[in-house]
Amino acid sequence: MVSNKMQDALNAQINAEMWSAYLYMAMSLDASFKGLNGAASWFRKQYDEEMSHAFKFIDYLKGQLAKVELKPVAEVPSSWESIAAMFSQTLEHEKKVTSMIHSLCCLASDEKDFATANFLQWFVNEQVEEEATASGIIDALKYIGDDKAAVYMFDKELGSR
Ligand code: FEO
Repeated sequence: MVSNKMQDALNAQINAEMWSAYLYMAMSLDASFKGLNGAASWFRKQYDEEMSHAFKFIDYLKGQLAKVELKPVAEVPSSWESIAAMFSQTLEHEKKVTSMIHSLCCLASDEKDFATANFLQWFVNEQVEEEATASGIIDALKYIGDDKAAVYMFDKELGSR
């Protein structure tokens, strides 16, 4: 069993994961519109990952016989200046998600909810990876700068994810 407070917090996290999915879907569409098919594919895979995160929370709540509440998903931006701008927002967003996961961990600890604390550990590790991946791509894009040929090659590499 999870407390009502924890149930509400986990439901809010489902919404945040859905918003993340929506954000990356929008980035995928914009990258595709810009002819950057590798980045479009990368963000589409990111969309799939975020949906799988949402379902992990949904399945956990179901397993705890708790109520799953699907709230409206807020609007996301629809265009970005460049793929560098997309990855910069990706990193900022993932940092925010990390702090949300850490807040959930604090709540689980305060409530001595060991099952939820254990469940959240997967997300703690996942966020380390998410931030490192976005940082690595941002670093590469800094070297590339405005070199169109290099952007083209890097886009191909992103498509191999
Ligand atoms: Fe579900 Fe990218 O964190």
